[in-house]
Amino acid sequence: MTHSHSHTRPGHGPARADDTGLAELLDLDAALAGSLFSEVPNAASEALRDAPSIAVDLGAGTGTGTLALANRFLGTRIHSIDASPELLERLSAAATNAGIGDRVEPHLVDLDGDWPAVLPDSVDLAWAALSPHHVTDPARVLRQALGVLRPGGVFVAIELAGAARYYPEDLATGRAGLGDRIVSALARQGYPVTAEWTAALNSAGFIRVERFEIPFTASARTTEGARYLALQLARNRTHLSDELAADDLAALDAVIAALEVDDSELEQSQSRAIWIAVTPEHQGLSASDAKGPGR
Ligand SMILES: C[S@@+](CC[C@H](N)C(=O)[O-])C[C@H]1O[C@@H](n2cnc3c(N)ncnc32)[C@H](O)[C@@H]1O
Repeated sequence: MTHSHSHTRPGHGPARADDTGLAELLDLDAALAGSLFSEVPNAASEALRDAPSIAVDLGAGTGTGTLALANRFLGTRIHSIDASPELLERLSAAATNAGIGDRVEPHLVDLDGDWPAVLPDSVDLAWAALSPHHVTDPARVLRQALGVLRPGGVFVAIELAGAARYYPEDLATGRAGLGDRIVSALARQGYPVTAEWTAALNSAGFIRVERFEIPFTASARTTEGARYLALQLARNRTHLSDELAADDLAALDAVIAALEVDDSELEQSQSRAIWIAVTPEHQGLSASDAKGPGR
C-alpha cells in the first residue's frame, strides 16, 4: 500500500509497522478508559432511532472501538477500516477471541482514498476514535462519512481534549515543576495531537452536533495503569531529549524505571472529547435548515 501524503505532522498517517508499542498502548488505553466505552455507545444509541444494523469503525487500530460497539449492539455488523495490516491482524484476533469474529469485517483501506467503496450501501453508525486527525483531509473524510450514512445515521468522533496532567505534579521526583516542563516541552514538539471537529462536522452537513468531554485517568496503582504510563512516558521521552535539561531527563528516566517495576503511585489525567453528529433526514437539506433542538 502506498501513501502519497507527507508524515511531517505529529500523529499524522497510518500506524508505522515498526511502532511496536502502539498496539499495546491502544489496548491499555481502552482497558483504562472505564465508562467511556459504555457512555459513548450509549450516547450514539440515543441519537439513533433504532439499533444499528451496520457500523463502520474508521481507523480501527487494534479494534477497541469495534469491540465496544459489538458488545453494546449485539446484532450489529461492523466494518473495521485501517491502513495498518499489523493492527488489523490484531483486531481480527481480538474479534475471534471475543467470539464476535462473524460480525466483524476488517478492511485494509486508506482513509485518504475511496474507503466508502468497501462498505454496503447504507451505514447506520460511523465511529472514528483518535483517528480523524491522522488523515490528510479530515473535512473530506467527514463528507464521505455523511455520504455513507443513512438519513438519521450517527457519526461519533473521539479525540484527546488537551494536555496530560500529572499527580503528583513533580512525578514524585522532588523536582518541582517537572510535570509542567514535560507538558510545555511536548507542546513545543506538537504533542499531544488534539483536534476540534464541531465546525467541520457542521460544514460537512451533519446536524445536531454535540460535543462533550469524559475524564480519563491512568493510575500506576494498577499493573495495567503502571504499564500504560511507562509506555506513554517512554514514548514522550523520545521527543524530549533536546527539550529538557539533563537533570530533568535523568529524573524522568527514574520515573519510567519505577513504573516498569510497579513501584510508583503516579497518576495522569487527560480528558477525551466526544462528538455525536446526525445525518439529516432529507438529502440536500442544508445544515442550518435542518438544525434540530438536539438530544
Ligand atoms: C491512534 S490510533 C486509534 C486506533 C483506534 N481507533 C483506537 O481508538 O484505539 C489511529 C489509527 O488510525 C489509523 N490510520 C491513520 N491514518 C489512516 C489512514 N489514512 N487510513 C486508514 N487508517 C489510518 C492508524 O493506522 C491507527 O490504527
